[in-house]
Amino acid sequence: MRHVPGPPSKLPGVGTTIFTVMSGLAAEHGAINLSQGFPDFSPPARLIELVAAHMRAGLNQYAPMAGLPALRAAIADKVLDLYGRRVDAGSEVTVTPGATEALFCAVQAVVHRGEEVILFEPAYDSYEPAVQLAGGVAVRVPLRRPRFDVDWDRVRDALTPRTRLIIVNTPHNPSGAVFARADLEALAGLLRGTRVLVLGDEVYEHMVFGGAAHHSVLTHEELAARGMVVSSFGKTYHATGWKVGYCIAPVGLTQEFRKIHQFVQFSVATPMQAALADFLVEAPEHHRQLAGFYQTKRDYFCRLLEQTRFRCTPSPGTYFQLADYSALSDLPDVEFARHLTIRYGVAAIPVSAFSSGARVERLVRFCFAKDDVTLDAAGERLKQA
Ligand SMILES: Cc1ncc(COP(=O)(O)O)c(C=O)c1O
Repeated sequence: MRHVPGPPSKLPGVGTTIFTVMSGLAAEHGAINLSQGFPDFSPPARLIELVAAHMRAGLNQYAPMAGLPALRAAIADKVLDLYGRRVDAGSEVTVTPGATEALFCAVQAVVHRGEEVILFEPAYDSYEPAVQLAGGVAVRVPLRRPRFDVDWDRVRDALTPRTRLIIVNTPHNPSGAVFARADLEALAGLLRGTRVLVLGDEVYEHMVFGGAAHHSVLTHEELAARGMVVSSFGKTYHATGWKVGYCIAPVGLTQEFRKIHQFVQFSVATPMQAALADFLVEAPEHHRQLAGFYQTKRDYFCRLLEQTRFRCTPSPGTYFQLADYSALSDLPDVEFARHLTIRYGVAAIPVSAFSSGARVERLVRFCFAKDDVTLDAAGERLKQA
């Protein structure tokens, strides 16, 4: 076949994501995959039954563009219950195919050519390509080591008249850091009197440990008024492959959001939505108990790491644990992660993959959303490293 050169790339700096690369390498080498963030256990059996029941009952055609009304109502009720905010299920909640599409649509909806978007580094990898495709400019503010908290003075310095959006991710992937109430106050203080909007990526909202609260953007009057908040049922119900999430935003922002969403995806798998709507009402204890469930797993995994030469501070949130490998190797983290996969049979994500610069990190991210037998087997292998 004749080689036809491709068009100039719209994302010249983007290759295959590190998650795909590491999962592929793990499969190739028969490694235990603690790299990509997904559980190796099933969603609740009842939730699966509900999906099947709705399929059998005939819910197999397009859902409404903004989501099934019953699911949007259940989301609005949950938001009122957890964050004390009354959102309108009809005009302020949109069901999306996972958080990824919601983040993409949110950025496309509000960022115009040449406008700046502040994000914190290390950052989840979908943010910057979304900004670039909108014609915007990503302005990266590094999180402070070792706690990965925000230096609000640096955010003040990064704000310009061209700033349109700031993306905040709490609990934070990859570090597990969580916002304190004071962070919301600092953010609100900086944005007062500006036109800057807030995009809250809160997909790990139910995974905050040590009895601490999740300080959602939705809990803050001023931030909620300029905020789009995104979450993911994939994370909450051990069902990342279903790709169902949502975006909550005030009416005017939701209208712009839906203009994009209706042409990117239009609507989300109907039987999954119906089942999630039922399950949210039937089993609210599932999300209420999730922090305890994952804290037990985190503690279990950290005890296994204590028997290795990795060093870690237990993660305050998410289902990720960072580990310092400087006692094991001088390799840069990308090479170390490959070496760990190929030589010792455990796959992890190098933290520098979440950053743009040449910053030297001796940190890898493990996902502990795994059955204890998987974690045990990984622990045994990591002891050899
Ligand atoms: C911070 C963060 N945002 C968004 C997503 C995407 O969520 P979803 O699978 O619902 O698209 C992930 C998934 O790993 C994530 O870690």
